[in-house]
Amino acid sequence: MPGICLVGLQWGDEGKGKVTDLLAGDVDVVVRYQGGNNAGHTVVVDGARYALHLIPTGILYPGCVPVIGNGVVINPQVLLEEMEALEARGVDVSRLRISGNAHLIMPYHLELDRVTERRLGKNRLGTTKRGIGPAYADKAARVGLRVQDLLDPKIFGEKLAVVLKEKNLVLTRVYGRLPFDAREISDAYLAYGERLRPYITDTAALVQHALDDGRTVLFEGAQATMLDLDHGTYPFVTSSNPVAGGACAGAGIGPRDIDRVIGVTKAYCTRVGSGPFPSEADPADAEVLVEAGGEYGTTTGRRRRTGWFDAVAARYAARLNALTELVVTKLDVLSAFERVKVCVAYTFEGRRYDGFPEHQTVFNKCTPIYEELPGWDADITGARRPEDLPAAARTYVEAVQELVGVPVTWASVGPGRDQIVRFRR
Ligand code: IMP
Repeated sequence: MPGICLVGLQWGDEGKGKVTDLLAGDVDVVVRYQGGNNAGHTVVVDGARYALHLIPTGILYPGCVPVIGNGVVINPQVLLEEMEALEARGVDVSRLRISGNAHLIMPYHLELDRVTERRLGKNRLGTTKRGIGPAYADKAARVGLRVQDLLDPKIFGEKLAVVLKEKNLVLTRVYGRLPFDAREISDAYLAYGERLRPYITDTAALVQHALDDGRTVLFEGAQATMLDLDHGTYPFVTSSNPVAGGACAGAGIGPRDIDRVIGVTKAYCTRVGSGPFPSEADPADAEVLVEAGGEYGTTTGRRRRTGWFDAVAARYAARLNALTELVVTKLDVLSAFERVKVCVAYTFEGRRYDGFPEHQTVFNKCTPIYEELPGWDADITGARRPEDLPAAARTYVEAVQELVGVPVTWASVGPGRDQIVRFRR
């Protein structure tokens, strides 16, 4: 006790790293339970900015054990680079623990991600091209290689030989690419394995023991609800389950181990890659949001698509994750507007949708119904208590809370650690 799950409610990049930072002092273990280096958490600690892709943010807090759970897909080269980069900045990485059951992203996954996106042409998903989808596909097809295989050269070689035969056929015959060499992959990966050996362990047992001992465990979701493989805007989703329920399978715990579910949402909305986005702003407002919000991807540097807060999607996410509380980030970005729009419902073919549409066609083609709220025309980055905020900014937060039906605990008003307004304990 207690287990806390932190989930994004939109299409990722909600600022979950900042919330981890707020909780970090009280957390003993931080576990990543899905995704891979498609994620990007930016955390600012003591004025230093860290962009983490694979390693849980817990690495930055000396009292905390960071864990990469079984549900994550790991590119070992990227992981080692990230570890080295942190060490070069004086961060101790010795506490990191990696699940032996996590699957590996292999060089052919990266290549397959690239060529399938190219083949899809205008239907492409806009993936991060980090090999995430192909790695999870192999996991489900039961031909994936796992972290623990790195520690057994014989098994690794056997499994690689089987899978590479098929991958090379696909790459050469279907896509006209060059085949991969098993020896080259083995040499590189087994060397990575030796370096990772001290960190590999049964992380599910570690997490369970921590919970049994009364320590606080934070389950850190990457990406977000609307990118969930089952519940998001399929097929424009990632290949794992960022929803809170995903923490159970991806970290090896039971549902009763989660006591709090904190949902993080921007005060507006962004998404990267393709796919429907009903509350996408018109180009002029989108430009303001991109510039005021610095809306460029941590992982790929891509400019994000921006729009207004979508209460329909947020209610859907609140329900799917059984949220206990809500954190609103980047409230200060909306200071740039005289009036602020909120999407309260959708309409399609004469029907109003207050709940998330069952059928994707509706979500793809619906028109947002907006309510407008007054802006606050003031710099709120110095606010620390609700009463420091202009009345209109408070009204906005209250409207979000009301529309989603979940209490707001914090609103962030800037990137710094202290730039936070606490609404309740
Ligand atoms: P993939 O996860 O690389 O396969 O990409 C699938 C979709 O998820 C694409 O639309 C990506 O832009 C999106 N995506 C993946 N990771 C993130 C993230 O951390 N933030 C925002 N979008 C993401």
